Amino acid sequence: MSYDLVVIGTGPGGYVCAIRAAQLGLKTAVVEKRATHGGTCLNVGCIPSKALLHASEAFEEANKHFSELGIDVGTPKLDLKKMQGFKQGGVDGNTKGVEFLLKKNKVDAYHGRGRIAGAGRVEVISDDGGNQMLETKNIVIATGSDVTRLPGVEIDEKTVVSSTGALELADVPKRLVVIGAGVIGLELGSVWRRLGAEVTVIEYLDRVLPGMDGEVGKQFQRILAKQGMVFKLSTKVTGVEVAEKGGATVTVEPAQGGEAETIEADVVLVAIGRVPFTEGLGLETVGVATDNKGRIETDSHYATNVTGIYAIGDVIAGPMLAHKAEDEGVAVAEILAGQAGHVNYGVIPNVVYTFPEVASVGKTEEELKKDGIGYKVGKFPFTANGRAKANGTTDGFVKILADEKTDRVLGVHIVGADAGNLIAEVAVAMEFAASAEDIARTCHAHPTLTEAVKEAALAVDKRAIHV
Ligand code: FAD
Ligand code: NAI
Repeated sequence: MSYDLVVIGTGPGGYVCAIRAAQLGLKTAVVEKRATHGGTCLNVGCIPSKALLHASEAFEEANKHFSELGIDVGTPKLDLKKMQGFKQGGVDGNTKGVEFLLKKNKVDAYHGRGRIAGAGRVEVISDDGGNQMLETKNIVIATGSDVTRLPGVEIDEKTVVSSTGALELADVPKRLVVIGAGVIGLELGSVWRRLGAEVTVIEYLDRVLPGMDGEVGKQFQRILAKQGMVFKLSTKVTGVEVAEKGGATVTVEPAQGGEAETIEADVVLVAIGRVPFTEGLGLETVGVATDNKGRIETDSHYATNVTGIYAIGDVIAGPMLAHKAEDEGVAVAEILAGQAGHVNYGVIPNVVYTFPEVASVGKTEEELKKDGIGYKVGKFPFTANGRAKANGTTDGFVKILADEKTDRVLGVHIVGADAGNLIAEVAVAMEFAASAEDIARTCHAHPTLTEAVKEAALAVDKRAIHV
């Protein structure tokens, strides 16, 4: 078969790229080694984790907060098998949706491992060993990422799990130790804490969510600690010993060195980051260059050093986020069709889907300081927002960072209920190069949490009304 484009991998980057390319008239095929489309995100990432976050949040609401609303449901009972079934329903609905969309857009889908056999040639190797050669003008690599391993710690997906195993537990562990206070550790740690686990999070650095605004990280950690999560920061794991009868002993010591201690766990979740996945892809055969982190090197048009081969998503540099991969998929398809595809990396929102949520877009205060950019800060707490008070969800704040001279919004950081949705309006505003004044002068409906965004924008100019 001969194509204009063959995309390897049907995660959010790959399948979106294929659909956009087909819309633009390119004869397109995808190759996927997994039985279902949707990649990490739909199968073992964004979607199943959000389903469990949603269900466990409902459980915690019923367990702890319904009575505050005057609703007596007694003590709710957990049916974990059913909850896992609910999660799987969400996954199946989404992966089937992608299959439908690929068909609808007349994208040919091949199942098997894709290997670049040479310029313009992709070999599809199926599980039974059979193979097929596809000829193509262009190749887009969208093979995503894999779990980062901790040296000396074997992931068996039962006692020592990655995010994939942590989404599949058949019982609630009594004691869960999470290694890494990043987004996976805090999201999945929240799931199992809500369902009854004692959760201890071990983090090498002296803060949670490195990369996010420092003030946000501090307040967020305080909120999670109040919910019962235990944090051991500035601590390194030096060993994990799995016992024959089940469970594990985790040995830790201060990051700077010092006395070791042990922590007993029923399950240990390793969540220390992800690495680009290019195994078996044949990069060496054609000489595609990678950097020192194993990421495929691309130029601003997603082109690798080999003519006709492009790469997008988790396998290249930048935040490992589904929406970043999707936007790159659209951009590269448009470039291949002769249009001007582009992604604005300054405006990629980042959301942690815990309760409360954490959301950010643009620069953090630390980054602005480092870059020597003068800025003004406008902050507004949810304790002063009418809707948050009415809902009883007053934890957190909105913080807007605007250029000292021009008032242009440079970054926005939110901790609070629904922060993931609240961040969308400021992302749009930033895309249009808005000033804090522009947001402050936009009428926001009352009573909504969005008024906290408006008030934070007013606070940039020291004229918030409700504080
Ligand atoms: P992937 O989604 O990893 O897809 C790559 C695909 O390529 C896979 O299906 C793989 O099987 C296939 N493949 C690999 N090699 C080959 C080959 N040689 N031949 C054929 N097929 C191949 N991001 C968010 O934005 N929001 C979230 O809420 C979120 N939650 C997450 C939760 C978890 C637990 C995890 C692990 C990740 C989460 N992410 C989230 C990150 C998100 O999943 C990734 O950023 C996103 O999936 C990257 O998309 P991609 O298309 O680059 O790669
Ligand atoms: P992460 O990079 O977010 O966090 C890893 C944490 O582990 C960091 O705090 C790091 O300092 C710490 N760490 C590293 N080595 C350590 C060690 N040896 N001991 C103790 N701590 C150590 O990575 P995470 O949580 O694994 O997630 C991977 C990626 O998946 C994220 O970067 C994100 O891009 C994506 N993701 C996005 C989600 C979202 O958007 N809501 C949800 C889940 C994942």
